[in-house]
Amino acid sequence: MQSNSQYYTKTAQVIHWIMAIIFITAWLIGFYSGNFLSYENDGSFKGDVITLHKNIATTIIFLVVIRIFWRYTHPVPALPESMSPMMKTMAHLGHLVLYLLLLALPITGCLFSWSAGHPAPVLYLFNIPQLIGENPQIMSIVKPMHIYLSWFAGFVVAGHILMALKHHFIDKDNVLRSMLRQK
Ligand code: HEM
Repeated sequence: MQSNSQYYTKTAQVIHWIMAIIFITAWLIGFYSGNFLSYENDGSFKGDVITLHKNIATTIIFLVVIRIFWRYTHPVPALPESMSPMMKTMAHLGHLVLYLLLLALPITGCLFSWSAGHPAPVLYLFNIPQLIGENPQIMSIVKPMHIYLSWFAGFVVAGHILMALKHHFIDKDNVLRSMLRQK
């Protein structure tokens, strides 16, 4: 559904920026823990950092459901006329991949934690009901999935940010503003 307005709705904008902050924060904390901390020297600190990663990242599951619902019930601004049909298709595909990653990362993260025998806590308030028990075989699949998907997501999000900046500073069109302003 395309809108006559040049701008995303206020709700879509707020959800977009909240999720951007949460996603990037969770990514950096996960990356720090996974690549710079080990259980051998600072086991309890690493444990605390992973717990922080989980408590922040699980919120994405709830937000992405609201976001997808909003996306399909509210029109979005059209891409600029100046973009070629090929670039428009690439942009739509990129956005689809981002939505899939917003679902796949928290899902594989939860499966990783549960299969390792740990909970999936949300904002230090409650745990997501555990759907599977401790299971080393499942863990040997979902752990690398979570790690490779997180690296892939790092590249896709970096590309997304670079493209938004290119639209704003080089093409000088309304793409970045459509997520920042109302009329
Ligand atoms: C949008 C959501 C998420 C993002 C962007 C994300 C990102 C990451 C990244 C970048 C890593 C480090 C990978 C590496 O070792 O190079 C990681 C590790 C990890 N993630 Fe996530 N993650 C998300 C959601 C979750 C969730 C929901 C859970 C569990 C409830 C989770 C549990 C873990 C665990 C246990 C690790 C291993 C950390 C370590 O070994 O030190 N993640 N994640």
